[in-house]
Order: sequence, then C-alpha cells, then structure tokens
Amino acid sequence: MDQNIINEIRSKVDIVDVVSSYLPLTQKGKNFFGVCPFHDDTNPSMSVSRELQIYRCFSCGASGNVFHFVMNYEHVSFKEALRILANRAGVEIKGLKLTETKNPLTPYYEIYDLANKFYQNNLSTTLGKKAKEYLSLRSVDEALIKEFEIGLSLKDTSTLTRLLEEKGYDAKTLRLLGLMSDHHDTYINRIMFPLWDLEGRPIGFSGRIYDDSNTNKYLNTKETPLFKKGQLLYHYHIAREEVRVKKQVVVMEGFMDVIRASSIGIKNTVALMGTAMTDEQAKLIARLSKEIVLCFDGDEAGIHANLVNGEHFQKMGIQVKVLPLSDDYDPDTFILKEGAEKFKNLLENAMHYNDYKIMRLKQTVNFHSEEEVATYINAVLQETVKLNDPIHEEITLKHLAKECDISYNTLEKRFQELKSASVTREEKVPILPKPKKTPTHKDKYSRATLAILYYLLVSDRMVQKYEREGILFPDENARFLASEILYFKRKYGIIKVADFYTYLTDKDNLSKLTSEVLSQELPEKITEQEMDDYFGVIREYNKNREIKRLQKMIKEEMDPMEKARLAEKIKGLRIGEC
Ligand code: CTP
Ligand code: MN
Repeated sequence: MDQNIINEIRSKVDIVDVVSSYLPLTQKGKNFFGVCPFHDDTNPSMSVSRELQIYRCFSCGASGNVFHFVMNYEHVSFKEALRILANRAGVEIKGLKLTETKNPLTPYYEIYDLANKFYQNNLSTTLGKKAKEYLSLRSVDEALIKEFEIGLSLKDTSTLTRLLEEKGYDAKTLRLLGLMSDHHDTYINRIMFPLWDLEGRPIGFSGRIYDDSNTNKYLNTKETPLFKKGQLLYHYHIAREEVRVKKQVVVMEGFMDVIRASSIGIKNTVALMGTAMTDEQAKLIARLSKEIVLCFDGDEAGIHANLVNGEHFQKMGIQVKVLPLSDDYDPDTFILKEGAEKFKNLLENAMHYNDYKIMRLKQTVNFHSEEEVATYINAVLQETVKLNDPIHEEITLKHLAKECDISYNTLEKRFQELKSASVTREEKVPILPKPKKTPTHKDKYSRATLAILYYLLVSDRMVQKYEREGILFPDENARFLASEILYFKRKYGIIKVADFYTYLTDKDNLSKLTSEVLSQELPEKITEQEMDDYFGVIREYNKNREIKRLQKMIKEEMDPMEKARLAEKIKGLRIGEC
C-alpha cells in the first residue's frame, strides 16, 4: 500500500475531531482529555495531541494515531479504517489498488449480502403478497421495508441454498453460516429482518412467522464466525450517526420497536433483541452517548430489564434514564395506539434511573409494616445520596417525611450520616490513575535512552550525531526503534510522528515504546552538552557491559598470559581508553 497516500489521508483529518466524534474531550493546556474507551474507566486518562496527531492512555497504555484509534474503536481492519477516514477527508481511494491481506471472512460477507438481496427481492414478487399484507396490517409501509431491508424467505425449502450453490458456495459453508440446516434452507416462509454488524453489513437474520404457522415467533441466526449476538446491537450503525445530533441513545428490546420509532423520526435507537445485555453491549452503548434512555416493554420482563440494565450503567458511572411504559405496551404498540407526540413527550420527560428505582421500591413496600417502611426509607436515602444534587435531596426528603409520617430532621440526620459514609468511600478512589511506570523509577540508562529516542524524532541534529557516533542502546526494542526512525527519516526526509505511527502498525512493541518516548516532558531544544551527556551515559553502560564480559572471560580462561591480557584490557576500559 502506498505510504504517501495513507499519510495524505491522515494529514487531512484531525485526530481531535475524529476522537471527539466518538467521545467527549476537554482541553487542558495543549492536549485534550477524555475517558479511554479501551479499558474500563471513568477517569479522563486518555490524552489526544493535536500537535502530534496521536492519542495515548496513561492508564492502559493504548496509543497510536488516528488509524489505530478507528481500528480499535470500530473493531475494523487497517484498510477499513483507511476507508472510513478517506471518506471523512473526502479523499478518493476507489481507483487505488490497496493490497489487502486476504480477510478469510470476506466470502461470508458476500454470502450474507446475496441472501439479503434475495430475500428482499422475494417480498416484491407475487409470492410475497401475503407477507406484504401482514406488514401492511402492522403499519410497516414501503419506506420502512426499504429502510430496514425487510425481506421474505419462501415456502419452497431450498431456494436460497440452490441460488448460493449455483454461485459456487458449498453446503458446508452455508451450514456454518446458519443459512442451511440439514439439506434445506434454515428460513422457510418467514418475514426476514437482516441483522447488521457494527458497520452495517448484514451478518444474520431474524425471521418472523406471518401466517398461522404454529411455531417459534422469531427464528434467529445461530452463533457463526460472523454473528455474535452478545457483541452487537440492532441498528447500531444508524444510531451512531443520529446520536451526534440527538446527544442521546434510546435502548429498546425488539427490532420492531426500533423500526416503529424510526417511522416517527426517532432513529437514535438500538435494540438488544431481548432484555439481556452483555458487558460488551453495555460498553458499546456507553460509547455512543453520555445520555442513555432505557425503553423496555411495560411487562414484568421489561421492568426487570430497566432495573438490571440501569444498575449496570450506573455502576459504570453513567447517568441513565428510564421511559417506563404501562403494562401491555411496547414502544411499537404504544406509538401505534397512543401516537407519536405522546411517545416523544414521554421520551423528553424520561425519569432519572434513581427516581425510577424509588418508584419501583414504593410499589412493593407494605406501608403497614414498620420494618418494611424502615427498609424503604433507608433505600430511598441511599439512592438519593448517589444523586449528589441538593435540590433533589430536599424534595425527596420532604416527600419522604410526609409519605412515611416521620420528622424531616430525623431523615436529614440519617441522610447526612449516609452521605459522609459515602464521601469517605469515594475519597479513596484516586481521581487520576497513576501511570503504570513513573519515569522516576527508571534507571539513568533508560532515561538517557528515552531522551535520545525522543530527540531522534524531533531533532535533525540528534539524528546526525547518532549516525556519526553510533551507540548501542542497552534495550533491544530501543535499538530497533532507533533504526526504524532513521529508516523512516531517510525515506521521507522528515518525521511526522503520526505518520511514523502508521508505519509502526503491526509492530506493537515499537508503537508502545514510541508513545512512552513521546510522553516525556522534555525541553523542545537540546544543547550540544546535553546530547554529549546522554551519549556519555549510554557509553558508560556499554563500557560496564564490556567489562563484565571480559571479567567472565578471565574466569573461564586457563592460560595465565591470556588472563593478564584481558585484565590489562579491563584496566584500559576503566581509565577511559578503548
Ligand atoms: N425475540 C426472539 N425470539 C422470540 C421472541 C423475541 O428472538 N421468540 C427477540 C426478538 O429480537 C425481538 C425481541 O426479542 O425483537 C423482543 O421480543 P418481543 O417483545 O416479543 O418482540 P416484538 O418486537 O414485540 O415483536 P412482535 O411485535 O413482532 O411480536
Ligand atoms: Mn415487544
């Protein structure tokens, strides 16, 4: 792949813009800071440098340039990250021959693409009449069918299999991908909803019955090399765009809910396809937006899902809201029966999760039992402490005093106790995580190594000196890095750190070392004397190592003449001649 074009694309996008399109950043001094998306954290340990066009997490060590950020964040290949960013930069890479390392999954994506097109086409043929009627009864119109790529699998049990086999795909692959079971198609006579991966490629299906067949309502793709249910969210690729405008993401149970919401212009939605949420899905949602609204069905399962998933987000340090629906509604039926405006209104007035929890507690407490009331009061106070909002506190306390017929002062006293207990707990949590290795723990040799590497990247004089004097770093990675720096410099004339990172892709050790090198706070200019000092330190190391080597040789040497010669050599080294 042509490094120059890669560098051109990189230079046309600003890493600060790109990163902040995924997560909020705040500027402190020269750099921007945000919560690192690559490990579990709530502290702003990731810094992004506009000047150097790189990012680095002080806590987990994740680092790189804009390509690495997109690759890691979107879980995509280098080529895909390149495509995403070229798109953003408005650079045409179509005509380019990008030599891609063959992705073994590519044919699988092609198969799903073909299947998706095949099913969609069936729906508009005469064989799709009944299915169309069903969709129309459910108020799914042509526009929604198109938008959500809804299709139809046929009654004839092997149409898809035949089509794909004619195209040269074998039965084994089709079975592996969940499109073929035994000797026929997996999906027979169902309305087909494609399930997309995070980038919007179809990788699975959910097929719904639509006539009177007496079988499972939905049939979903099994786990395959492409389809991992716990790692994806329905509609994620669309929600990601919408969230930028709406600053909020709405989490629903079913894809019909998402489809319905879309029909009234609410597209910042994802569906779990059920009520269970994996850690991975929670992280994906949390990355989408700081404001999350849970909107599950009004039944018991939905209430349970609000509580469990709300707690999950709260533990991650994320504010979450709940839009509770009454008993037999799900978002789909609510919108159909009660109307778009009512739903939008509820969404605007979604409850804070803590209030929702208190509301639920209240519905279960028996106010005739003193014990239950006492437990209830404590629980409400505990929840209120978490809010850390004086106005909210006073309202809740006043309300609670009335509700439980207990004096405001007593409640206030207990509240303050709980609050101070929680503060002492919180104070133990460090605000900024310490870097894993602080430079002060490094010996002088590593310090000199890191400093020389730093100036090799930023100063031509250092490069010249290094080439002239040739020293050997104690650390092997440092030696490799230095030679990569020199190579890059010879090839491109100058070193743009961010481009150098691209060059180091696949050389994990060296990228890590580079970000360690760049994290040093060193003066911009280096004097001749300082350069000599750093080189002196490395030479001293080399000398000591040589002495050790000679000492070892003396020990093993039998010939007294040779022993004397080696000792003489050591003496020479010690007084400074080599
Ligand atoms: N689901 C499933 N299999 C089922 C039932 C549900 O996989 N037998 C998943 C589907 O992804 C569905 C979600 O759980 O979208 C929510 O289920 P449910 O509320 O029953 O689906 P609805 O969206 O209400 O579907 P419909 O309105 O078509 O009945
Ligand atoms: Mn539902």
